[in-house]
Amino acid sequence: MTRIAYVNGEYSPLEDAKISILDRGFLFADGVYEVAAVLDGKLADYAGHVARLHRSLGELQIAPPVGDDELLEIHRELVKRNAVDEGLVYLQVTRGAGERDFPFPKDAKPSLVLFTQAKNLAEAPIAATGYKVKTVPDIRWARRDIKSVALLAQVLAKQAAADSGCNEAWMVEDGKVTEGGSSNAYIIKDGRIITRPVSNKILSGITRASVLKLAAERDMEVEERVFSVDEALAADEAFVTAASTFVMPVVEIDGKMIGGGQPGPVARRLREIYIDHARSSAI
Ligand code: PDD
Repeated sequence: MTRIAYVNGEYSPLEDAKISILDRGFLFADGVYEVAAVLDGKLADYAGHVARLHRSLGELQIAPPVGDDELLEIHRELVKRNAVDEGLVYLQVTRGAGERDFPFPKDAKPSLVLFTQAKNLAEAPIAATGYKVKTVPDIRWARRDIKSVALLAQVLAKQAAADSGCNEAWMVEDGKVTEGGSSNAYIIKDGRIITRPVSNKILSGITRASVLKLAAERDMEVEERVFSVDEALAADEAFVTAASTFVMPVVEIDGKMIGGGQPGPVARRLREIYIDHARSSAI
């Protein structure tokens, strides 16, 4: 079956879906994106993704290309046309096409692109064995809170991880873990869930917000603070969260086993709790 993509008002087969070479997303990475999970053909944590999209667009002074009702309709239509039961919807908004010049063009119309990716999420086999992580220097810019499509640092980080046989990179600044290449990072020590507080140093994960809320509701101890690589290496457990992985246990960091090299009980429980929440609240 040919995948159907959405580009600026049109649904078309992926191979026919095209954007101008003068699009500022292509020329300057002048745009933002979102990735929302699909479970049972429905959108998980959708409200959070749309809220963050508005924030990112606002920070870059890009006008939303369509209203919220239409955006939800496009998501649903794409999920339907591609018969996605489980997977991801990728969305990108750029400032649009204009003659190449650095300041914002006066008359550019924002571009809107969406496509789907079928993916096993809830039953992803890797969740049973857990991720191996490689630490790399965090060489990104100072506005990591914006979900910008400028992802070259993460591409290099995740390639370095893959070259070392790892599933994810943990980016490190001043000896402290900022976040994963495409995920938020956590450790567990003596039953406490420890993760970096939200700031311009990391992306405010939608999965992170849900997981921390669900944990607090269950009287699990959450400590939002910076943690070092050394602390992570001595942790009882570790995990990452993202729309594309949900809660994913981490069993190895830089070749050193964490918690005996098996997914830990807290990470496993949080994964179950999150998947139940995502399924039951999906729209
Ligand atoms: N990335 N931190 C970074 C740098 C990310 O790229 C992501 C998600 C997250 C987790 O955010 P959320 O829980 O809202 O997915 C944290 C997406 C999945 C991606 O780039 O594919």
